[in-house]
Amino acid sequence: MIDLLKKAAWLESEDIRPYVFVRHENEISQPGSAHRLNWFPHQPIFKDPLDITEIAFADRIYSIEERAFGPSNMAMPRWVFYDCAVMPGFVAGFAARPRALSKMVREVLDPKKHPATNSPIKTSAILKHIESLDEMDWVPLSLFIIIPTMHKGEWVAHNLCSVNSLLPKEEQFYGLGFLSKAFGLWYANVEQCSGMTQWGSPALKLHSHYGHLEVIGAYAPVHSHAKTITYRVQVNTHCWEKFFNKEPDLAFLEAYGPTGSFIDPKSEDSMVDLQRRIEMEQGPFFLSAGEIAQKKLDEKLMIYRLKQQY
Ligand SMILES: CC(C)(COP(=O)(O)OP(=O)(O)OC[C@H]1O[C@@H](n2cnc3c(N)ncnc32)[C@H](O)[C@@H]1OP(=O)(O)O)[C@@H](O)C(=O)NCCC(=O)NCCS
Repeated sequence: MIDLLKKAAWLESEDIRPYVFVRHENEISQPGSAHRLNWFPHQPIFKDPLDITEIAFADRIYSIEERAFGPSNMAMPRWVFYDCAVMPGFVAGFAARPRALSKMVREVLDPKKHPATNSPIKTSAILKHIESLDEMDWVPLSLFIIIPTMHKGEWVAHNLCSVNSLLPKEEQFYGLGFLSKAFGLWYANVEQCSGMTQWGSPALKLHSHYGHLEVIGAYAPVHSHAKTITYRVQVNTHCWEKFFNKEPDLAFLEAYGPTGSFIDPKSEDSMVDLQRRIEMEQGPFFLSAGEIAQKKLDEKLMIYRLKQQY
């Protein structure tokens, strides 16, 4: 907690709070009861995606998401958000009181300066559309979407996004992306979490710190981006503080050893090769969070295996 607050002091601010954007039927019955953790003392703000007066909150979520994912051509259409996120799962993140934000952050979040191209034109004619940031009680700074799967106990992390990706370093809220996912996993008592991201993405630095990361797919031609890693973690909060203090994960080093093979984010062949090994059941294969943290995004990553497999 101390290391966390040294680097993410904003977490203590009364003007920044976690939020839960969830329809009533999907509310978590005993939030935060599976993992012992004192990182989120503030009560979350609740917003209901099926309440049409909350459309401004959804629009601001879209606005961040669209600009963060637009460059990689993966911005989420509104119907995907509704059909595949809000209806089966829930959205969590952090939100701020608009008046507490700096001029630059306000500008980045200002819908007039960054109108979402996928904003609902028809509804704006019917609803009183909130144009100004100051008319909002809370404005979202990040989003994490998580959806339960048919496999009991397993959830899929569908989207993670933070306003930090749109801000210069000195204006960023350190750890915002990491803590948005951490809050969602903690709040919803998630024990097992799968997810997808592209090899070489900065998001891998975050996703590898929620528990030991198993690669369940190294190449995904079914996806629009084939160079996608599909991963799974058993959520383990002991790993979380290492994201902040950069201490080695001794439990990982004790349990897993290097295979001598690498994934190279610049080599599709290395991805296909690992994918084949997974399909031939030579795994399970893992990545080291400590190693990913130290490396540049385009550097090769060692593939690890359980030591008892040797
Ligand atoms: C990826 C993303 C969610 C990370 O969230 P964030 O709030 O920027 O990151 P956090 O503050 O939580 O984490 C900071 C760490 O991530 C690293 N990081 C974040 N963006 C980075 C980038 N573009 N390149 C390299 N490292 C990056 C920081 O260097 C820092 O690591 P350090 O402690 O070793 O310095 C955010 O940048 C984002 O929204 N990106 C666009 C959308 C996206 O790619 N989402 C992930 C899809 S799975």
